[in-house]
Amino acid sequence: MSVRLVFLGPPGAGKGTQAQLLASQYGVEQLATGDILRRNVREGTELGREAKRYMDAGDLVPDAVIIGMVESELAGSTGFIVDGFPRTIAQAQAFDALLARLEAPLTAVLLFEVPREQLIERLTGRWICPKDQSSYHLTFNPPRNAGKCDVCGTGLVQRSDDTLETVTRRMAVYDEQTAPLIAYYRKQGNLISIHAERPVVDVTAEILTALSERQGAGA
Ligand code: AP5
Repeated sequence: MSVRLVFLGPPGAGKGTQAQLLASQYGVEQLATGDILRRNVREGTELGREAKRYMDAGDLVPDAVIIGMVESELAGSTGFIVDGFPRTIAQAQAFDALLARLEAPLTAVLLFEVPREQLIERLTGRWICPKDQSSYHLTFNPPRNAGKCDVCGTGLVQRSDDTLETVTRRMAVYDEQTAPLIAYYRKQGNLISIHAERPVVDVTAEILTALSERQGAGA
C-alpha cells in the first residue's frame, strides 16, 4: 500500500522512531529533514555549514533552504513519510504547491501527542546511529547489544542538540512556529491525533489501525 504521510509533533515525540518502522513496512521512502541536515553537517557541505549554527541554537533553518532541499529529495517519489517537515506555515504552503504539481495528495498528517515532561526524558536519554539514523533510548527503547545499532552494528552517539538548554529552546520554537500547523492541517481534514505517549509497539499499532480505517473509509 503506497502512502504519503506527514509526521507532525514536538521534538522527542517519536516521529523518527515510527517513521523508520513504518517506511519499511509500507515500502516507502522516509524523508527526515533533520537527518538530511545532520548528514550535510557531517559531510561539511555548504548547506551543512549554513544549517549548523541554527541547529546548534535549537532554531529553525530558513524556509527557502529547507523547501529547496525537500523538493529535490522528493523528485520522482510516489510514496513517502515526511518527518520534521513542514515546520512553518510557509513550508506547509510550499509543500501543498509541490504536491499539487506532482498530483500526489497526502494520505494523512499524523499528530504525535506526548506530555511535555516525557519529551525531555526521551531526548536526554536518546542515542542514535550516525550511519542509518536509527533512534534508541537507554531505558524505553534500548538496542539489543549495548551501544550498538540493531540494524548495522555501528556505535551509537548522542545528538549535540539534545542538551537540556537546546531542548528547551526547541520546544519553544515548536510552540511558536510549528504548532500552528495543527490548525492548518485540521482545516484541510487531514489530521489524525496519535497517543504517542504509549510504548513504541502500541504507537505503531495505533498508527496502522488509524491509517487502515482511513483508507477503508476512502478518505
Ligand atoms: P529534527 O531532527 O527533525 O528534530 P525534532 O523534530 O526536534 O525531532 P526529534 O528528532 O528530536 O524527535 P522525534 O520525534 O523524531 O523523536 P525520536 O523518534 O528520535 O530537527 C533537528 C533540527 O534540524 C531542528 O531543531 C532545526 O534546526 C533543523 N530542522 C529540521 N527540519 C527542519 C525544517 N523542516 N525546517 C527548519 N529547520 C529544520 O524519539 C526520541 C527518543 O524517545 C528516542 O530516544 C526514542 O528511542 C524514544 N522513543 C520514541 N518513541 C518512544 C515511545 N513510544 N516511548 C518511549 N520512548 C520513545
